[in-house]
Amino acid sequence: MGYPFASALVTGASSGIGEVMVDLLADAGVPTVVVARRRDRLEELARRHDGIEVLAADLTTDAGQQLVAERVTSAEEPVDLVVNNAGFGTNGVFHELDVDRLTDEVELNVAALTRLSHVALATMVPRRRGWLLNVSSIAGFQAAPRLAVYAATKAYVTSLTESLHEEVAGTGVKVSALCPGLTRTEFQQVSSTDHYADTFPDFVWTSPEQVARAGLDGVAKGRALIVPGVIYKGVAAAAGVTPRGLARKLSGLVQRG
Ligand SMILES: NC(=O)c1ccc[n+]([C@@H]2O[C@H](COP(=O)([O-])OP(=O)(O)OC[C@H]3O[C@@H](n4cnc5c(N)ncnc54)[C@H](OP(=O)(O)O)[C@@H]3O)[C@@H](O)[C@H]2O)c1
Repeated sequence: MGYPFASALVTGASSGIGEVMVDLLADAGVPTVVVARRRDRLEELARRHDGIEVLAADLTTDAGQQLVAERVTSAEEPVDLVVNNAGFGTNGVFHELDVDRLTDEVELNVAALTRLSHVALATMVPRRRGWLLNVSSIAGFQAAPRLAVYAATKAYVTSLTESLHEEVAGTGVKVSALCPGLTRTEFQQVSSTDHYADTFPDFVWTSPEQVARAGLDGVAKGRALIVPGVIYKGVAAAAGVTPRGLARKLSGLVQRG
């Protein structure tokens, strides 16, 4: 598909869903700024495609967030599409986990995403043009014992993004939340959920290609919520009508495997 964006910036571009989004954007001829900590991975993307600008940054730091925010606001080289995709989770019992890691998780999944959403819309709305895609998760639709902080950060991302979608309606700027279910990426290794590979059958897994494509197509069309895959569309719909007590009990059973 040809995309309406003349340029893009993708965080978390060094692997998984973000990397595939960069491949899709590059194949469609969209020049893209790629953001992550692993510069070597970003430089590999720049070798693979024309039109890639490497911006290595740690988005848990003020300096990293500032660097990316400045790039988003550039008047000389405007960014049409901002994808807040960088994120991670931590599996385990909340009070037994390293609190510094949990603080970084909130800083990346919530604070950096909020700051970059803010500069993106403050830049795009006066231009009356732009697209913002925030990567949330199906985990944001209900509590998730053993992934408690992750689910809470993603509930925030979905709520914030839906609010912003309505706030900017009619300005020419589109805002979408992408809520994937289980997707095979480095996420499982980083979040200590490798055991999901044995716990969950193949048919519940979506591919990073399917998720990335759905996200870019959905934001181009101005959808508020994008849930890739029939199974997860069902999960999202069920979450809206299931009693909260039952939903959190079921979620706890699923996390235990
Ligand atoms: N995979 C799933 O099952 C799944 C399901 C629902 C939602 N999601 C969401 O999808 C998004 C992408 O995840 P993924 O599955 O593609 O996982 P992934 O392969 O682990 O990719 C995560 C990306 O985030 C970047 N990142 C991590 N910490 C960062 C930091 N401090 N500063 C800058 N970048 C950082 C990583 O790059 P560096 O390590 O190089 O910095 C990497 O490029 C995340 O928001 C995740 O929560 C994933």
